[in-house]
Amino acid sequence: MKIKACLFDLDGVVVDTARYHYIAWNKIAEELGFHFSEQDNERLKGVSRMESLDILLDLGGINIDSAQKTELAEKKNNLYVSYITQMTPDEILPGVIRFLDELHKNNLLIALGSASKNAMFILDKIGLAQKFDAVIDGTKVFRAKPDPEVFLKGASELGVSPVNCLVFEDAQAGIDAARNGGMSVIGIGKGENLKNADFVIPGFANMNIDQLRSWYL
Ligand code: BG6
Ligand code: MG
Repeated sequence: MKIKACLFDLDGVVVDTARYHYIAWNKIAEELGFHFSEQDNERLKGVSRMESLDILLDLGGINIDSAQKTELAEKKNNLYVSYITQMTPDEILPGVIRFLDELHKNNLLIALGSASKNAMFILDKIGLAQKFDAVIDGTKVFRAKPDPEVFLKGASELGVSPVNCLVFEDAQAGIDAARNGGMSVIGIGKGENLKNADFVIPGFANMNIDQLRSWYL
């Protein structure tokens, strides 16, 4: 098979933290006095904390200075951290552990490629930190998705060429990042929100190595 390594986004792929990000941003939007829909939230998926705030403020037509932005971003993160502190391994999405184990058994390497600065904290909470051969998160990258930096760093840490890497992503920015890095990419979620993925699957419940082999001879 062409694929030698799999790179996983975290939020919305391994765990449903995309929901917690949305709830926290929604509280900020409420305080600022505007409605923030789940469809609007699609634009925040995969992008960094500060860029997410910029998009949110833009949606609400709100102009504030950089000190106020820092304060709001901190407020959102404190809310978010209060939710993820409660997380347990039960929140790992269906099929994820089985699929990761199957990849390892078949000698594929596994990396995490997340924009989140909270990624290590979450991996520890859900007990998955040991499953990844490399972890690249928001503390290690300078350029946000759709820049391919996070995935290229993952590939390089694994010692695998980008053409032999497959990315799993729930965000359009992440799919674009994988493509910009010259990698294969499978979207997680609904096809209408995810353009340019090789395939889109609802999750890992029915995903296995034989399916991968048939897709990526
Ligand atoms: C990404 C999420 O994984 O991480 C984004 O999809 C989020 O929604 C980004 O903004 C940054 O996360 P954090 O935890 O550093 O605020
Ligand atoms: Mg995501």
